[in-house]
Amino acid sequence: MTAKFKPMTFEMETDRLSLSLWKESDASWYRELIAERGKGMPTIVTARKNVTTLRNRALESGIALLTIRRREQGDYIGYCGLIIGRSTLEEPEIAYELFKRVHGNGYATEAATVIVDAAVATGRHKLWSTVRAWNAASFRVLEKLRFERHHSTWDESGEIVWSVRDL
Ligand SMILES: CC(C)(COP(=O)(O)OP(=O)(O)OC[C@H]1O[C@@H](n2cnc3c(N)ncnc32)[C@H](O)[C@@H]1OP(=O)(O)O)[C@@H](O)C(=O)NCCC(=O)NCCS
Repeated sequence: MTAKFKPMTFEMETDRLSLSLWKESDASWYRELIAERGKGMPTIVTARKNVTTLRNRALESGIALLTIRRREQGDYIGYCGLIIGRSTLEEPEIAYELFKRVHGNGYATEAATVIVDAAVATGRHKLWSTVRAWNAASFRVLEKLRFERHHSTWDESGEIVWSVRDL
């Protein structure tokens, strides 16, 4: 972990949601979330490895994707947080992914809002986001979070739009 920044808070609450660090037991819903991408469901063994990696990376780097649980219903609905992604530890990316059944309820915006606050509290000055050009819902969340479109890059799957938020 770089000494320049404080570690991010890994436990947070909003009006409707609890955000937490990954536990091995999250593997069972995590694999269902990945399956919604339409390219198959990871085995439980792979999913356990993945969530353990996410947890360990968080503890090492001081930034994390966090699980999102609805407090009233008690169910896990996805994740949101900070990753290096295509950017850097100093200026990480915000990322989120929720189950389709809960889309359109403001949950991504609610979770991402406290993640932005948590990024500020680590001492960071800038966050990025990289989103496929077709992803209107994701751009709308970014707009609500006051990110601004910055530039595009291209890979074999097409355009990636970079947006930025100065903190
Ligand atoms: C992106 C994602 C996390 C948004 O989650 P969510 O909880 O539905 O987001 P919110 O409800 O907070 O906000 C979504 C906004 O997008 C809008 N929206 C949804 N689909 C849209 C579309 N096709 N065109 C335009 N706006 C759209 C909603 O109306 C809402 O805006 P509003 O509050 O002004 O009405 C969710 O769609 C998702 O998990 N997608 C799959 C994974 C993904 O793409 N992650 C981002 C990768 S960069």
